[in-house]
Amino acid sequence: VPALPPEPPEAGLDQAAGFAAAWLRANCPCRRCRDPHSGQRLVSLTDLPARVRVTAGPESGGDLPVTFWPDGHQAVFSRSWLTQQSGPPADDRTEAAKRLWTRADFPAGPPAWPWPEYLARAAVREQGLTALLEEGLMLLRGVPAEPGAVLTVAASLGFVRETNYGRLFDVRVTTTPSNLAFTGLPIAPHTDNPYRDPVPTVQLLHCLEGAAAGGDSGLVDGFAAAGLLRQENPAAFGVLAGTPVTFAYADATAELRATRPLIGLDPAGRIREVRFNNRSMQPWRPGGPAGAAAGDRDPVAAAAAFYAAARAFAEILARPALMLTFRLEPGDCVAFDNTRVLHARTGFAATGTRHLQGCYADLDGVSSAVGVLRRRTHDA
Ligand code: OGA
Ligand code: ZN
Ligand code: ZN
Repeated sequence: VPALPPEPPEAGLDQAAGFAAAWLRANCPCRRCRDPHSGQRLVSLTDLPARVRVTAGPESGGDLPVTFWPDGHQAVFSRSWLTQQSGPPADDRTEAAKRLWTRADFPAGPPAWPWPEYLARAAVREQGLTALLEEGLMLLRGVPAEPGAVLTVAASLGFVRETNYGRLFDVRVTTTPSNLAFTGLPIAPHTDNPYRDPVPTVQLLHCLEGAAAGGDSGLVDGFAAAGLLRQENPAAFGVLAGTPVTFAYADATAELRATRPLIGLDPAGRIREVRFNNRSMQPWRPGGPAGAAAGDRDPVAAAAAFYAAARAFAEILARPALMLTFRLEPGDCVAFDNTRVLHARTGFAATGTRHLQGCYADLDGVSSAVGVLRRRTHDA
């Protein structure tokens, strides 16, 4: 690489007010760089000079005027905007942005709100949806026990994610079940539809009719469980975070598969996504990334390490101290973060009339709804 000539002395500095010259230039707020109406950027990264320096003028009234070298481009940054940019990381999907929990944190059952109040009052919607984002769960009571009502709940927090199962799906016993959900069998803690990419990030379950006995619900904070695995068995945590696994589902009209690790991390190594479903997990195969935890050994040792690690995680997920248990009564609708909170149910008599309706939605819609709710200036 040929050495670039040094900048002339009048070029300015490589930073102003603690912000890199390149950062300031890339985020220039002037009307040539940003559309004043939408706030969207008008210039691409390759339009900017490859080397930037900056000279700051005197701050006045909370404004920081700057001039960029080499093209003399000028801009004014507001100090309050600059201050907002140095806060905590913006990704609200990782463990760092969540309130982790165990059973003991919810002695009275899942955080719950009455549906009529949730509908009528913005402050109640904000509370419920904030619980869905931060704790990963929200229970609404008194949702009319009528077919399709789950779609109205989904519309209140975002947009329904239609799938091959339809806009909604019925969970009840059928004669030729295509899925264990449609039997009276117990179901261990799992996340739904790990065979999709992107996976649905919110799941709703609405109870139309309960079981006479059994069919109780359980929820487990998968981020808390993965955190325990990291503490107690760091090698197993590393194997699960570094090993892509295929999940698959097939029936007469669908053939779905997705390949992701059971524990997904962000680039800083924070837990960001849990996928766990033993019904649809496919046989482990060699071929993880070179040098990854389970990929750099012989396949027999790597397979053994993977199943030992998956078992260690499953054992933590099965701890009674972690699982919040409750009964869905007719009219109850539970919503949870399907990338974090695992759900389970106990078995029940297949002859009964237990009937749930479920659907999927997404967390970006929930965050958006909360953002809009927080704009209001008075309590509604
Ligand atoms: C499901 C499921 C839970 C229940 O349908 O995915 O987990 O309570 N059902 O029946
Ligand atoms: Zn500009
Ligand atoms: Zn499920």
